[in-house]
This record gives sequence, structure tokens and C-alpha cells, in this order.
Amino acid sequence: MAETSPAMTKGKAMAQSSAQTKTTAVPNDLEPFWMPFTANRSFKKRPRMIARAKDLYYYTPEGRPVLDACAGLWCTNAGHNRDPIVAAIQAQAAELDFSPTFQFGHPKAFELASRIAALAPGDLDHVFFTNSGSEATDTALKIALAYWNVKGEGSRTRLIGRERGYHGVGFGGTSVGGMVNNRKFFGSLLAGVDHLPMTYNRERQAFTKGEPEWGEERANALEDLVTLHGANTIAAVIVEPMAGSTGVLPAPKGYLHRLRAICDKHGILLIFDEVITGFGRLGTAFAAERYGVIPDMICFAKGITSGSVPMGGVIARKGIHDAFMKGPEHVVELFHGYTYSAHPLACAAGLAALDLYRDEKLFERAKALEPKWADAAMSLKGLPNVLDIRQVGLTAGIDLASRPDFVGKRGYDAMEMAFHDVGIMVRGIGDTLAVTPPLTVSEAQIGEIFDKLGKIIKAVS
Ligand SMILES: Cc1ncc(COP(=O)(O)O)c(C=O)c1O
Repeated sequence: MAETSPAMTKGKAMAQSSAQTKTTAVPNDLEPFWMPFTANRSFKKRPRMIARAKDLYYYTPEGRPVLDACAGLWCTNAGHNRDPIVAAIQAQAAELDFSPTFQFGHPKAFELASRIAALAPGDLDHVFFTNSGSEATDTALKIALAYWNVKGEGSRTRLIGRERGYHGVGFGGTSVGGMVNNRKFFGSLLAGVDHLPMTYNRERQAFTKGEPEWGEERANALEDLVTLHGANTIAAVIVEPMAGSTGVLPAPKGYLHRLRAICDKHGILLIFDEVITGFGRLGTAFAAERYGVIPDMICFAKGITSGSVPMGGVIARKGIHDAFMKGPEHVVELFHGYTYSAHPLACAAGLAALDLYRDEKLFERAKALEPKWADAAMSLKGLPNVLDIRQVGLTAGIDLASRPDFVGKRGYDAMEMAFHDVGIMVRGIGDTLAVTPPLTVSEAQIGEIFDKLGKIIKAVS
């Protein structure tokens, strides 16, 4: 495995030095921006401000480099500000800024849909574009409900998610999601939702590399839900093949196969939320390929444009799409869509990102790096307060013991210290540190990431 991907080295030194030498003015008043999923008061006292980026590095307004160990928010899979993506966005902005995709079309939308369908397994061959992962999951849930309607099985309205699942912040995604803080402030959300149990048990699987041996049988809980509610009331099950936002929980061996078999037995649609796992994160285009399990729909976002322009979508099996293609041809078949579905800038960025993934073999690169990545992650075992380390593909989750006074404070301190004092961005999820670098990460940078994390973990002990 090469130390750096070929395109990274080209022009890298120049781009990095200009990113470092430039400085950026920061507004005095930070108050008006109500920041998402952020401890606003704490941030505004000691901002973690980012002004520029190139490849694996962010730069603060003063030009201080910060190694990006989380691909932004699990999304910049090709690294930051890659020249071909930048050029594609610039050219597209000059050629076609916007055109509607309601009753009209532009060529790149069709081209991108074909390219995504070609990467998806089996007969997942139709792509519905959204602008985010949250819209992708809500779209998939709505397609599932509408599908049963057009098939004449309108009693199938129940949606099933999983404890510790994250499917974005729309009403549908929040309802099927299984993160307590994301649900408890928002009342009853959608009715007719149930949850499978989570697949994690620290005692049974701590410090496992890759997919744990324990947990396959947890899929059987779907049989219990069928017994409880009746299969004829269940529209779909949605799961992440690797739950990222609750701290990197890989699917247990055999779990997804078993879920598929139970869904098949009862005619339930299976949706994989691949907003994080899509586009190479687990060493294949989609996790469905890694596990050899074909879901009925795949939700994607993030990596499709390598994070450069917002975009998401749903890939549906032919049978699902075709079920809607009936009735008079002048009538809209699915009453759903977004003004910015398949926005020209996002399509241009998506095509350029897919070219980079292909030309630099970045999915294969992630696969080849996984054993080294796993060893490096597990090297932190034994450090103070490290309760578990999980890893799959180019992701790792490190659970730290909570401080007795405040749950989440040790993780927050680690994230803050990492940024300000050690020059690395990691994502603190409560007391879990999530690490998910761009797929262009070099072996030397993998070493640097875990060395720095080791220092931080000792410092917050
Ligand atoms: C699995 C999964 N689904 C959905 C989403 C929501 O995506 P977005 O934040 O783009 O709405 C995320 C975001 O992290 C995610 O990890």
C-alpha cells in the first residue's frame, strides 16, 4: 500500500502551504448562529473554528493545521478540496446553476443515477435524489409506505428501527431512530413504530476487530415483533449495517443475513441506511456488498459528493420502482421530491467524486488498509479508562469510562483538547471517540492519529 494516494502528492505541498499561510478574519459576534448538535455556550466561549482545508488537514483561521480524523462528519471520503471536485463544481456553477427536476431534467442527474445504480448490488437500479441523509431515510420510509399502498396492502404501515440506530432528524428518521436524546424532546413522533434491540453487549464482544461473533441471534427479535403486531401491519425494517452515530457498532456476523431471511419470510421490506457506510467506508462501494446481503432500498448521502455539496438519495430495487409505474402516463407516479433533488452542483460534484474513487481505487484502498487500521486502533487497549474499542472498515469507536460527576464530559474534554492542543479532529459522542478518516489516509497518518489519541486519552484520565 502506497504511503499516500498518487493524486494527493500532486500539488499538495503548494496547496497546503497556501492554506497555512493565509489567515481568515473571524466575526466578533458568534451569537446569532444557533449551531446544530453543538454545546453552543461552551463552543462560543472557546470556538473550534475552521477556515480552510486540503486533503487530510483542516486549518484554523490563524493557519494552524488540524489533522482530520473524522472525514469532516464521516463524509469527505476522498479528502478535502480535491482539485477535480473543485473544478467540476466551478465549471457547473458557470454552466447551469439550477434547473428543476420536477417534470424537467438535466443530463448530469441521469448520468449520476446510472453511475450510482452501477455501484449498487443486485437489482437496486433506480435512484431517487435528496439533499441529505435525513431526507434519504424519510424518503425510503415514505417509498415503503407508498409501495404497500400501490400493491394493495395498505395495512402495512408499521416501521421498525433499532435501539441505538440513527437515521437523521426528520420525523420519520427520528421516530425509527434509537437514540434517547434525539427522541425524548419531541413528543410522540410517528405512531406505529417499533424497535429491534441493539446488537451491542460489551461483556460479550469488547475489543473485537471487525464484526463481532456475538449478536446474530438478536435479529430473531424481528420474529417477536411479527408475532406481536402481525406481518400484515409491517411495512419495513431500517438498520445501519454499522451504526456510526452511536459510536461505531458493527453488525454481528450473520446478523444482516438473518434479518434478510426473516424479512423475506414475512414479505417485509429491508432498508439499509448506508449514509455513512456508502462509498467505501467499509472497503466496498456499499456495505451490502461487504456482507453479501441485498436490501430492498439503500439510503446514501455524505460520501456521494465527498462531502463537498449536500446530496443524498435512495436506491430502490427494480420491483419497488416498477410497482409505481402504472396508470395514465401523464400522472405523477410518486408524490414526493425536493426542489433541490439532483441539484446540478451536487451532480457535478458527485460525478467527480465517483471518478476519484474509481481512478484512485479508494474503496480497495480502504479494504487494504483495514488490518493496519484495526491494529493501530487496538493499540490503545490498556490505556486508562478505555473500556472498549470497536472497529470495522476505516472506522473506530473508543469507549472511555464516564467521569463520575458528568456523563459525556471526558469525551467532550478529549475532543476539545484534541483540537486545541494536539491538532487533531475527532468526534466525541458522549464518552465515545469516533475516528473515521478520509479513505486517502496514509499509513503514517494512521500512526499519527492513534499516537495523538493515546496522548489525549492519557491527558483526560
Ligand atoms: C446512518 C445515518 N443516517 C442518516 C443520517 C443523517 O444525515 P444528514 O445529517 O445528512 O441529514 C446520518 C448522519 O450522520 C447517518 O449517520
